[in-house]
Amino acid sequence: MAQSLFLSLLLFSLFLPLSSAAYSIGVNYGTVANNLPPPSQVAAFLKSHTSIDRVKIFDANPDILRAFAGTGIFLTVSIANGDIPALAKDPAAQAWVANNILPFHPTTLINHIAVGNEILATSDKNLIAHLLPAMKAIHSALRHANISDIKVSTPHSLGILSASEPPSTGRFRRGYDRAIFAPILEFHNQTKTPFMVNPYPFFGFRPATLDYALFKPNAGVFDNATGKHYTNMFDAQLDAVHSAMKKVGYGDVDIVVAETGWPSAGDPNQPGVSLENAISYNRNLVKHVNSGKGTPLMPNRTFETYIFSLFNENLKPSTSERNYGLFQPDLTPVYDVGILRNPSPIIIHHVD
Ligand SMILES: *[C@@H]1O[C@H](CO)[C@@H](O)[C@H](O)[C@H]1NC(C)=O
Ligand SMILES: *[C@@H]1O[C@H](CO)[C@@H](O)[C@H](O)[C@H]1NC(C)=O
Ligand SMILES: *[C@@H]1O[C@H](CO)[C@@H](O)[C@H](O)[C@H]1NC(C)=O
Ligand SMILES: *[C@@H]1O[C@H](CO)[C@@H](O)[C@H](O)[C@H]1NC(C)=O
Repeated sequence: MAQSLFLSLLLFSLFLPLSSAAYSIGVNYGTVANNLPPPSQVAAFLKSHTSIDRVKIFDANPDILRAFAGTGIFLTVSIANGDIPALAKDPAAQAWVANNILPFHPTTLINHIAVGNEILATSDKNLIAHLLPAMKAIHSALRHANISDIKVSTPHSLGILSASEPPSTGRFRRGYDRAIFAPILEFHNQTKTPFMVNPYPFFGFRPATLDYALFKPNAGVFDNATGKHYTNMFDAQLDAVHSAMKKVGYGDVDIVVAETGWPSAGDPNQPGVSLENAISYNRNLVKHVNSGKGTPLMPNRTFETYIFSLFNENLKPSTSERNYGLFQPDLTPVYDVGILRNPSPIIIHHVD
């Protein structure tokens, strides 16, 4: 009796912190700043003080790759947009993998290589033409090096859609749908790699839809073509992407949310920007993606999600862009979205 009581209290105390607070989530570790701590300190901090279990970086900085060795935290590393045309050739892609991945893998866990960022939004024909060839060449280079656990993708802004409201109308821009997205999605389907998108309700809300964007109580949006009711813009944006993918034949390809976030400060009177709104968006986002509920059109599907951003970055151009961070450069939280670990253990007295 006493023993089983002790055991159940012990189990209770072991599982309570996980089930009550710590959600797993990814973050984007941007480094457009001159006051950030060294990567080794960042890696140690994330491992010991947060439940962040995956990190996306915007380059392949070897100091960061080295710093995360042995932490158990997954990295998504990125290839710079300007490097894409050269990497569309096999020898160059093999050299890139040899120089940037092989020295660190698998001691540093690397789960994705993001080939460029928001390439379609650049409207640069040379980059766009070389995007899929570079993704294929990097994928082949990984296979050539016998690496099968790193997935190749490329994050897209929601500007790839020409329609998105209501979600069932979601479609890729004409001219890009068959020529660009069908082949990219065919690659993802064949290689079992995810389609990466950067949905930002922050860039999509109007004054009347602020609560809808922030996951706060609101009337929602009814999509009469599907009979689905939307209570938050994040789900609506993902379902618009899903609808577009389905229209070109690839509704089953996994989706990764490579960036999303909300700034906690901005210029005076900038609409929708406040600490309270950043907390509402990011905290509810984390709860929502960890609930496993999926979206109205993708029930029960889960989406690896990377919040933008880990730090407030002081060299970004505008006030709001400098204030997307969950942490200050000195590692104090700007606010908590449920990912801080409680450092003090729960002690239960009098179990005799
Ligand atoms: C990859 O694996 C194959 C078969 O196990 C082996 O013959 C080949 O040498 C390996 N290549 C590399 C680059 O390790
Ligand atoms: C996607 O891949 C699956 C499994 O490999 C295959 O059965 C299916 O036909 C592919 N879908 C398309 C649209 O090519
Ligand atoms: C859906 O609503 C729009 C107006 O919002 C209307 O034009 C359209 O006919 C409706 N479609 C269906 C299937 O009811
Ligand atoms: C989603 O999960 C719920 C609860 O497990 C289940 O009842 C439902 O059938 C699932 N829906 C789909 C589409 O898989």
